Amino acid sequence: MPFKTELKHSDVTPKAAFLNRRQIIAGAAAGVMAGPASARALGDIAKTSHGAGLATTSLEDISSYCNFYEFGVGKDDPPRNAQDMVTVPWSVEIAGLVDRPGTYGLEDILRRVDLEERIYRFRCVEAWAMVIPWVGFELNQLLDMAGVQPSAKYVAFETAVLPDVMEGISRGYLDWPYREALRMDEAMHPLTLMSVGIYGEELRNQNGAPIRLVVPWKYGFKSIKSVVKVELTSKRPPNSWNMQNPREYGFYSNVNPLVDHPRWSQASERRIGDGVFARRHPTLMFNGYGDEVASLYAGMDLTREF
Ligand code: MTE
Repeated sequence: MPFKTELKHSDVTPKAAFLNRRQIIAGAAAGVMAGPASARALGDIAKTSHGAGLATTSLEDISSYCNFYEFGVGKDDPPRNAQDMVTVPWSVEIAGLVDRPGTYGLEDILRRVDLEERIYRFRCVEAWAMVIPWVGFELNQLLDMAGVQPSAKYVAFETAVLPDVMEGISRGYLDWPYREALRMDEAMHPLTLMSVGIYGEELRNQNGAPIRLVVPWKYGFKSIKSVVKVELTSKRPPNSWNMQNPREYGFYSNVNPLVDHPRWSQASERRIGDGVFARRHPTLMFNGYGDEVASLYAGMDLTREF
């Protein structure tokens, strides 16, 4: 498959610097660290051939034009308002239809997975786009760690709810926690990442520190930030935007130039960094990842299952 790399395991994992830092801070803080943690280098991460040749969006643009409603609805609200969120220590609860449910510390997770850099196109439903060099690991590694049971059909995710630092929580923009979900085959697909960094640095808070989902063939809103819970279920779980406005947002949210959002044409996109007057680019089906993922939707009517 085109997204697999030729790298040996020994090339991929020197992440000691990152783990050390998290452990030192966690130990010193004993759970009550004050103040923002600024982005640090993640160490040597395997650079895969994935996305080679795509011009990446600057870190400045990626971290200043954000959607993270817990911190406000303006694109520049999260960079301004998210800095008091404490992300060390952090853990992720894995619940539901798994053999080994429990609360997994982020350091423990990172010690057990292969971290790599993958350059993915990122497409928002509002018709803007970026190209982002994510540092992360395949979600299937986390799910394998927990042991998925055969009756599990979906994976649901939840974001932290931290009213003391998230000013959006009391404003009720959405029914918190922010929730997203994938079908099991989408979740196990090797393109689906859990990201912990961008451009070799830890994720900034506004981009979903310390761990977020990245599903490159779906609109950005599927890529839930600051994840604290992953639950395996047999029934399709609710997802935030569908709950908020089912006419505009379905479950699948695949990038599809043929299905317009009621308020935005999806036929073309504006690349962040190009300037507002720059030429728009045609939107690619499945955001350009059709060769890898179109088969997941064979036989479905994607104008109804949008
Ligand atoms: N996750 C949470 N918890 N809250 C949010 O408001 N916004 C989504 C998604 N994940 C959102 C979220 C939307 S609409 C988009 S486009 C992407 O995050 C934006 O990610 P970025 O700000 O890192 O570009």
